[in-house]
Amino acid sequence: MINASLATLIRISQLVHLVVVVTLSLGVVSAFATEMSSGNDIHSEAKHLGVASCANSVCHGRAVAVEHGNIMQNEYRTWAKYDHHSRAYAILKNADSKRIAANMGISDPTKEPACLACHADTTPANLQGEKFQISDGIGCEVCHGGAEKWIDSHYGNNTNADAAALHQANLKNGLLPTENPSFTATLCQSCHLGNTNQLANHEMMAAGHPRLRFELDTWLALMPAHHREDADYHQRGKASSASARWLEGRMQAAQDSLKLLEKHSMPDGLFPELAVFDCHSCHRPMDTQIQRPLEDKKLLPAGSVRINDNALRTLATVVTVRDQTLAKELSDAIRQLNQATVASKEALQASSRNLATLLKKSEHTMLTSPLSNSEQQAITTALLKQGASGDVRDYADAEQLFLGLQLLSANKSNSKVSAKRYDDIFAILNDEQNYTPSKFKAAVQKTLKAATEK
Ligand code: HEC
Ligand code: HEC
Ligand code: HEC
Ligand code: HEC
Repeated sequence: MINASLATLIRISQLVHLVVVVTLSLGVVSAFATEMSSGNDIHSEAKHLGVASCANSVCHGRAVAVEHGNIMQNEYRTWAKYDHHSRAYAILKNADSKRIAANMGISDPTKEPACLACHADTTPANLQGEKFQISDGIGCEVCHGGAEKWIDSHYGNNTNADAAALHQANLKNGLLPTENPSFTATLCQSCHLGNTNQLANHEMMAAGHPRLRFELDTWLALMPAHHREDADYHQRGKASSASARWLEGRMQAAQDSLKLLEKHSMPDGLFPELAVFDCHSCHRPMDTQIQRPLEDKKLLPAGSVRINDNALRTLATVVTVRDQTLAKELSDAIRQLNQATVASKEALQASSRNLATLLKKSEHTMLTSPLSNSEQQAITTALLKQGASGDVRDYADAEQLFLGLQLLSANKSNSKVSAKRYDDIFAILNDEQNYTPSKFKAAVQKTLKAATEK
């Protein structure tokens, strides 16, 4: 099986969250407001020294985690043994990859730049250190940055009280700020959503590549953790909350997917790139009885292929809790973007630019202070209302709505809707092949009713 079901993924992430909640309650403040994103360029000019440079047993290569100290020191082992990123290159040799490659007329996926882009460290040859090996797949430096300029200075005494200052110095030398959710969202999404340099396109999907999906907080929880969010982690100013990771992740998803839409939704040749469209615009049974939501008909003529604007629409819903006017402007701009995709390239560009400006504004509105409990509750209700109105067309839309709901329900102060309430919605998502928008709508309506009756 190439694809784990949503059920498995969510259950695992919920288990991890339970543990995280317990450790977090020991801790203090989040480094939320100071860490606004700044359009980070992920790829620096520093040499990538190779995973072997990190794997020494006195560095990150211990067999078991140390009990005390800033870091666990068994990061290499966790990565090598449990983290799928360590085998991302190796799987390009397996039967699934061979099948995908054969369907695309690619002779060797391990040599194919379009595959390597997301399955290996693509640092250019002049920036590869002596121990660099392509077979390491997605190694430490893909996420933490080329270590050339910080490797000699980044290890302090394990009980170093100046660890926060040391961390700042490392950042200056090219260590990437993986603790910053906005930064990390764009980092992970470069492969888990795609970006303007690398894309799992529709040809790959049709050849058998799994559909990509991503939500920052859930996927971080699914990645075998090689860090501990304990007291010293908070002292280093590195901790963030689940709701912050969700919000910042959605914000970056909106920005990154807008860039993809701008680049790919209008054809240079005969056809646009179908991977940025709503998969179920095309992939669903022919049904003459089908009831489309009224909104949809006003947006584009029946039979139009719609863009996947899920991240943008979710964000518009979220913004309503702080600024109704901005939320309305966002919704209008999203409608314009949809209409531009069937108008002209100029209309598409103008509308993307307008939307990009509104997204920057939203970033200011939403990220300058953490979401309060009552705001989280209001977002929960707003998301339920969005689902109940039928404004969730594609499976991918429904999946994101559900991930947001279950994540916000992990906050016990947001007690109006318990995670259990989502079981009916969950049951529908469990069967991706037979996903039916009307059934999803009905299940959300039921949940909304139960949540607002109390
Ligand atoms: C935009 C980035 C991207 C590109 C380009 C890409 N992949 Fe992937 N691939 C991923 C991600 C991310 C996953 C993991 C998906 C998940 O589990 O959510 C994945 C998963 C896979 C899997 C399933 C892995 C498993 O554990 O079963 C195979 C096989 C695969 N890719 C092969 C390829 C091949 C062959 C190519 C080139 C034709 C390619 N990929 C291009 C990002 C990409
Ligand atoms: C797919 C991305 C990714 C890869 C690959 C990766 N890391 Fe990480 N790493 C993270 C994230 C995300 C965190 C948690 C956020 C943070 O503290 O920076 C983290 C945290 C850490 C920490 C703890 C930092 C602290 O202050 O507690 C260490 C140490 C570390 N990584 C080392 C490694 C080493 C060594 C490797 C390779 C063997 C590696 N990482 C591979 C993403 C990655
Ligand atoms: C350079 C590309 C790249 C980056 C950056 C990246 N990933 Fe991945 N990720 C992949 C690929 C490719 C796979 C599939 C590997 C496999 O199955 O062998 C994967 C697999 C995973 C999986 C396992 C998925 C499953 O279905 O079991 C998780 C979880 C994950 N990534 C989370 C993250 C997170 C969180 C980040 C950011 C901190 C991140 N990834 C950054 C490419 C990337
Ligand atoms: C504009 C319509 C359109 C959109 C949007 C679209 N596809 Fe397709 N897709 C097609 C067509 C046409 C084929 C080829 C069917 C055939 O060969 O019989 C296809 C084939 C496929 C196949 C191969 C299986 C099959 O039925 O032949 C997969 C898997 C697939 N698409 C996945 C996706 C995913 C995932 C998305 C969204 C990211 C998507 N498609 C978006 C039109 C579309």
